[in-house]
Amino acid sequence: MSSYTTALLFHVLGATVWTGGHLVLALGVLPGALKERSPVAVQAFEVRFERVGIPALLIQVFTGLYLATTLAPPSTWLELDNPATRAIVIKLGLLAATVALAAHARLRVIPHLTAQNLGTLAWHVVAVTIISVAFVVIGVGYRVGLLS
Ligand code: HEM
Repeated sequence: MSSYTTALLFHVLGATVWTGGHLVLALGVLPGALKERSPVAVQAFEVRFERVGIPALLIQVFTGLYLATTLAPPSTWLELDNPATRAIVIKLGLLAATVALAAHARLRVIPHLTAQNLGTLAWHVVAVTIISVAFVVIGVGYRVGLLS
């Protein structure tokens, strides 16, 4: 197996954890917590998911950058004249948005989480989940020719 294929395999495995975990949080945990106006279930999930989810995101970034630099030299990424550079730049934008939202939630919202501001965290969760699905759509879209 080539190193590109190995990196792609880890990239897709990381995607199942990152995107799958957020879908479970957004669709399986969050609605009940909002209904009961209780942050406890969300906090419990976040604490457990962080231990697996953050390493998965780091794997995504490292394998993603390896795949991207193998497909196109970084100096050409902003040219956007082919599907690979378009996918790479969109993914870097999605990554920046993910980091900004996650940092804001972790540093500003979660430490002071109460029933009153649970809605603020909910919007962060929904936004990061939609972005995580967009990562998958762009990744698969590149492979099947949607970005041509
Ligand atoms: C949580 C973040 C990410 C997720 C969930 C994700 C998910 C995916 C998925 C599902 C694929 C499709 C693989 C296939 O169809 O075979 C893919 C491909 C790809 N991803 Fe990501 N990705 C993420 C982050 C990144 C980052 C940060 C980069 C770097 C810019 C990146 C670069 C790529 C590239 C270049 C491909 C195309 C590989 C190929 O088809 O040969 N990804 N990604």
